[in-house]
This record gives sequence, structure tokens and C-alpha cells, in this order.
Amino acid sequence: MTWLITGGAGYIGAHVVRETLKSGRNVVILDDMSTGIATRIPDGVTLEEVTLVDKAGVEAVFAKHEITGVLHLAARKQVGESVEKPLYYWDENINGLTHLVGAMKNSGIKNLVFSSSAAVYGEPDIAPDALITEATHCLPINPYGATKLAGEWIAHALSASDDFHVAALRYFNVAGAGSPQLGDQFILNLVPIVFDALTKGNQPRVFGDDYPTPDGSCIRDYVHVQDLAEAHVAAMDYVERPDTTFAAINIGTGRGASVFEVLDMVREVTGLEVTPERIQRRAGDPAALTADVSRAAQLLDWQSKYDLRDIISSAWTAWQQTH
Ligand code: WQD
Repeated sequence: MTWLITGGAGYIGAHVVRETLKSGRNVVILDDMSTGIATRIPDGVTLEEVTLVDKAGVEAVFAKHEITGVLHLAARKQVGESVEKPLYYWDENINGLTHLVGAMKNSGIKNLVFSSSAAVYGEPDIAPDALITEATHCLPINPYGATKLAGEWIAHALSASDDFHVAALRYFNVAGAGSPQLGDQFILNLVPIVFDALTKGNQPRVFGDDYPTPDGSCIRDYVHVQDLAEAHVAAMDYVERPDTTFAAINIGTGRGASVFEVLDMVREVTGLEVTPERIQRRAGDPAALTADVSRAAQLLDWQSKYDLRDIISSAWTAWQQTH
């Protein structure tokens, strides 16, 4: 069995590739290497350096390899950039997806695991201490989230029209590192932003301390990238079952942590002085996003193993290796 992993040279992709290999499947990576890193690709794994926007290039990859399923992780994923360049996001994430699933259809491949996001929920109209289930109304508030929801719709339609077997994994806040070499090298999310500030002698900033949460800062569901990678293997097993149609599945821990709690853990793990600066709210930040993970347990027989301490300590070890 050979699985095509798009985005396999990325931060999440590198973890997913390793877990897929461990599960006994062969892997081919499709990556445009715009944010991928070649040294993350394990020996013996073929890289097809192709952009999904190149329809003929994508089709050529399917003609060349005996692919049995696709893990589709490759996408543009910066919320702010998506607001500035919406057409770029629709082109890359949606035209890219249609080229990919079109090539799957032409080759008779039906098994798809799609990287979706909690961004599909936008700012859900639920109490801050409520959990988000997959039945929570989806109303993305930026083009990035909209492309993820539209991607789910395309995959869902193909499950009806062409018998695709689909798991759309709605990732919550991914952080941590499965090994010190595989850390997130971009400084775009809370944990790397905090490490970056502290190692430059600055203090982290908390975007808003007046939310309706116990300590006033936003709550998120931080999930270890290693747990996430293992969820992908469970999702491959799931879509390989003959009775699978389509399922959107939250991937988180079911436990929320506030920004202040994350910073407390950073203080404990790094031993550095952390005295956060409280600044105004960032536009578009919901007070709390914590996953109800019962569907993942039920359909994938998967649940997270790592806690916030594991996430921060693994991310810190990786950060020190590369910065
Ligand atoms: C986490 C929390 C901030 C930086 C984003 C995307 C989402 C998904 C994951 C891809 C928030 C607070 C942050 C800082 C802070 N991406 N914060 N000070 O916004 O929850 O989710 O990444 O699928 O779609 O929206 O993640 O890491 O930016 O922020 O106080 O310097 O940390 O307000 O509450 P977010 P984040």
C-alpha cells in the first residue's frame, strides 16, 4: 500500500510521514517545497516536487506511482495572509484540491484523509466552557477557514457521487515536536512566538485579558503534533474500511488551556522569567475553542496521549536545536 502525502515535508507532514511508515505503509510525498524542508524527508521516501496548482503535474504523479490513498495536508494556512490575499488562498487550497481529487478519481483512488481545521467553526455561538462538537454550526470568519470548509464540502460531495471514503480531520491548535529535529520552524503561532520573544530578551504579549474565561485570556485546545500524526494513521485505517463514507472529526485533547496557563507552563519548563505584557484583543479571536473529541474516540479509536507539559517541553527542546 502506497499513500501519497501532500505537504509531507512540512512541520505536521514530517510527523505524519514517519507514523505512516511505522504503520507499514509506503509513502510518496508531493510537496512544492515552498515551506517544506528537504532534510525532514526520511531516507527512501520519494519526493515529487510539484505544486497542486499544476494539474498536469499532479496527474503525472498519479500515473507514475501505484497510489492507494491520499493524505492531503498541503495548503496555505496563514489566517492573516488569507485575509490579504483571498484569491491566492482559494486558488492554492481549492483549485489545488480539485486537481488532486480529480486525479484520484481518474485513477480510481477513493481513500482520502483531508487536513481540515477548527477554523471552520469561526467564532461559534456557544458558552466559553462548552465543547465544540462536529455538529456545531460552521461559519468561518476568514478565507483560510472558508477554504477548509469548502474543501470538506468537495470531499463530502465526492463521497456521494464517487464513493470516496473521507476523513476530514479538524485540527485544533497543533504544537510540540515528535523529535527535536522536527519542530515548527515558523514563528506564527503562540508557542513559537513566545519562545522567540523570550530568547530575544522580550516578554510575550497576551492578546486580551478581559474575555469571559476564568483568567480573562483566550482558551484553546493545544494538541501535540505526535498525537495528531497518530490520529492520521487511525484515519487511514478508518477510510480503508469498506463502509466508510464521509466524516468530519475534531482532533484535539478535549481540554482547554488559557494563554496564561500556556505561559505558566513555559515558565516552568524553560526556567525563564515570564512576565507577560497584556495588550488589546486581536480581531477575530473567539474566547474559547475546545474540542469535543468523542467522535475521534468512537470512529478512529484514537485519543490524545500528551498533555500541555509534553507539548511545551518537546517544542522547547526542538526550538533550542534550531534557534
Ligand atoms: C493562540 C492563542 C491568541 C500570540 C490559529 C488559526 C487556526 C489554526 C491554528 C490552522 C489565541 C493568543 C497568540 C501572541 C497571544 N490554524 N496569542 N499572544 O488563532 O487560536 O489559531 O492557528 O489551522 O485556524 O486561527 O492560534 O497560535 O495564533 O493563538 O495571546 O503573541 O494565543 O489570541 O488565543 P489561533 P494562535
